[in-house]
Amino acid sequence: MSNKYTSNLHIEKAKTSKIKDVDFDNLNFGRTFTDHMFICDYVNGEWQQPKIIPYQAMSMDPSARVFHYGQAVFEGMKAYKDDDGGVFLFRPKENFNRINKSCARLAMPEFPENYFFEGLTTLLNLDKDWIQPGIGNSLYLRPFAIATDSAIAAAPSDSYRFMIICSPAKAYYKGTVKVLIAEEFSRSANGGVGFAKAAGNYAAQFYPTSLAQKKGYQQVIWTDADTHTFLEEAGTMNVFFRINDTLITAPISDRILDGVTRKSLIQLAKDNNIECEVRPIKVSEIVEASKNGTLKEIFGAGTAAVISPIEGFEYKETYYELPEIGDHSYSSILKNNMLNIQHNLAEDKNGWRFEV
Ligand code: COI
Repeated sequence: MSNKYTSNLHIEKAKTSKIKDVDFDNLNFGRTFTDHMFICDYVNGEWQQPKIIPYQAMSMDPSARVFHYGQAVFEGMKAYKDDDGGVFLFRPKENFNRINKSCARLAMPEFPENYFFEGLTTLLNLDKDWIQPGIGNSLYLRPFAIATDSAIAAAPSDSYRFMIICSPAKAYYKGTVKVLIAEEFSRSANGGVGFAKAAGNYAAQFYPTSLAQKKGYQQVIWTDADTHTFLEEAGTMNVFFRINDTLITAPISDRILDGVTRKSLIQLAKDNNIECEVRPIKVSEIVEASKNGTLKEIFGAGTAAVISPIEGFEYKETYYELPEIGDHSYSSILKNNMLNIQHNLAEDKNGWRFEV
């Protein structure tokens, strides 16, 4: 996109910080927010002056289209701190590109790159005390855009708001995860919005996931909407399967999110001489591999979830348990490698680290 937007970020600092009230050892994911937020409105066909202001509630007209039609997209990113106080992002351009891809699909205006990066880095400099150093700690960043027009006709909005809020985070899932392979419901379909980080993709999973949770599963692995025979993604994360010594993950499509962690792991697998196939994978293949003992691992991969080992899965009322393989698992090797890069503790030969 051509850039007619010159930088004119306005900053209003918070008078006091809430940080002293935060128990960083006991954080619930996404419930604590830093002192500042980034906000930029789109009015009359133009993005207006971007601002950083103290984190606060905002009022909106009840007719705003986001409330009625879910015209909203978001991103998930993390900032990390090393022991010398350096602050780093991980492949932020990927998130920037993806939110604009999501915007385009939801008929929303793209956000200017310099506003995004200046907003993000200024916000991180203001709130850097909220990033705890050390592996396992991060500041989760949530850029998002919503339709703000006060009008309930089912049509794209004329006005939008782009924001970034920040939340100190530890693990998303505590411990290992058990999953249910879905057949009854679908997450996305060809030609739909499954590839986008559209808010409604997540809301639509809450009900089927709550049914799975009642049966003791934390997550659902979605299968393709047409045949329910191919494994796709878990909704909060992409999924990798290890059969013998080969990792397999589904190719991205209209229906599957192009996860930044997913694509990084495919590269890190190569860097670690682990064979990784990107190809359609059938449920029957992993059921068979579980039965004959060649299914060694399943793990989810996402920004919030990082790498979450899956301890077992249910399919057609049968539960299949994964073997315990401990520290030599591909999930531990790849997770350690990625976290060390993110925390500035390992060589970054792919040039993914972005110093703030
Ligand atoms: C992320 O991993 O950042 C996500 O967006 C998943 C989210 C639903 C927590």
